[in-house]
Amino acid sequence: MNSVLVASNRGPVSFTVSDGGELTMKRGGGGLVSGLSGVAREEGVLWVCAALSDGDRSAVRLAPGGRLDHAGYDTGKLRMLDIPPATFHRAYNAVANSTLWFVNHLLYDIPNAPHFGSRFEKEWESYRDYNGAFALALAEEAGHGARVMVQDYHLTLTPAMLRAERPDLRIAHFSHTPWAPPEYFSLLPDEVAREVLEGILGADHAGFLTERWARAFMDCCESLLNAKVSGRTVSHEGRITRIGVHGLGVDGEKLWKRACEPDVESHMAALREQVGDRKLIVRIDRTELSKNIVRGLLAYREFLAAHPEWHGRVVHLAFAYPSRHDLPEYREYTAAVQRCAKEIEDEYATEDWDPLILNVNDDYPRSLAAYRLADVLLVNPIRDGMNLVAKEGPILSPRCALVLSREAGAAAELGADALVVNPYDVCETARALHTGLEMPEEERMRRGARLKAAATALPPQRWLGEQLASI
Ligand code: G6P
Repeated sequence: MNSVLVASNRGPVSFTVSDGGELTMKRGGGGLVSGLSGVAREEGVLWVCAALSDGDRSAVRLAPGGRLDHAGYDTGKLRMLDIPPATFHRAYNAVANSTLWFVNHLLYDIPNAPHFGSRFEKEWESYRDYNGAFALALAEEAGHGARVMVQDYHLTLTPAMLRAERPDLRIAHFSHTPWAPPEYFSLLPDEVAREVLEGILGADHAGFLTERWARAFMDCCESLLNAKVSGRTVSHEGRITRIGVHGLGVDGEKLWKRACEPDVESHMAALREQVGDRKLIVRIDRTELSKNIVRGLLAYREFLAAHPEWHGRVVHLAFAYPSRHDLPEYREYTAAVQRCAKEIEDEYATEDWDPLILNVNDDYPRSLAAYRLADVLLVNPIRDGMNLVAKEGPILSPRCALVLSREAGAAAELGADALVVNPYDVCETARALHTGLEMPEEERMRRGARLKAAATALPPQRWLGEQLASI
């Protein structure tokens, strides 16, 4: 039986089916997966995740008991759950990504959304079923007294459900997102808010990326559940949950090694060829509303308007990868980013100067090349659990100035050496871009060294070790 179990919606690998019906496996990306993949291959560890696509579902159906390692894939021990697609869609898109993500990132446009109508009741029911499927699989797979690490907002109900089945287990939950303050969290229907909080309190240990998100969670427990909060513990209905803060960092050596590979070097050469010796302002994001890409572009536009002396001498390289296109809000946001970029081009481009290069296709080696060449890195989310781009930048470009939103979790650790901005204030952001471009070399290096030290302070392996130790 397994002694450590990890549960997350997205797993460490995904599958695609070719036209000829052949399955190809790809390693998964994203902060959560890279944070956890270190343990995945250790003895006694099982990872439980959901099948996310038709390719995944085909792979699961071919694998005995959904155990992909048993089907001969090199995945570490992995069980993928084949949740009915309609249930999965309602749980993942409607509840996790449209509701819980929106609440915790303060993204609702309150006069028009949200609506918690009868459709939501059905969606919430599916979210319960989906969390239940995880709880059931974990209960089946866990050895006596095993440690179970449940990840993120997709699986807030699983800890309490699992505890009801298997009181012998030691359960941790980790939130990779921010947490909303009670007055905003209580936008949720009362019963939903309660279930989410009590679901997480089913764990022995609830982890957050920063003190601020941990505090917001405890405030919600206090004001919405009447739970007793004392120091770093929450007591509710006879149980105690300890609250931990674990600020996920980056494995600097591994990242640097990857960024020195030939594919990245050749992208660097191509980018240099394209932009010449102009200074580079870089941003790298998935196209998500919380990433605030439109205001970032508007800030660049304000900067160009205020500083004609920089025309022809700077290029903004913006990576905005597609994300969650099943949701209309995301599709509309992508279109808004593209409209704004075109307006800047129309206003400022000349025959021999492209002020803005917008990359909308996922290209990891090219984004690593951009990090390495950056003079200024712009990270301006409306709100973000941590934001690993802010941590990867200083590792890959020691002389890069960092413009960082005060609302990113990373600001708690990097704020002293970044140029910190209010993400809504486009003029302030424009001024910070200018300061970043003009920053003297010696100051860049000094700040860069401290940023790098902070970014690598708690690499994934140790981040995970801390949490395992706490249960
Ligand atoms: C970001 C968040 C994670 C979350 C992930 C889900 O990386 O920081 O908290 O788990 O998104 O993304 P997905 O593509 O799986 O919807």
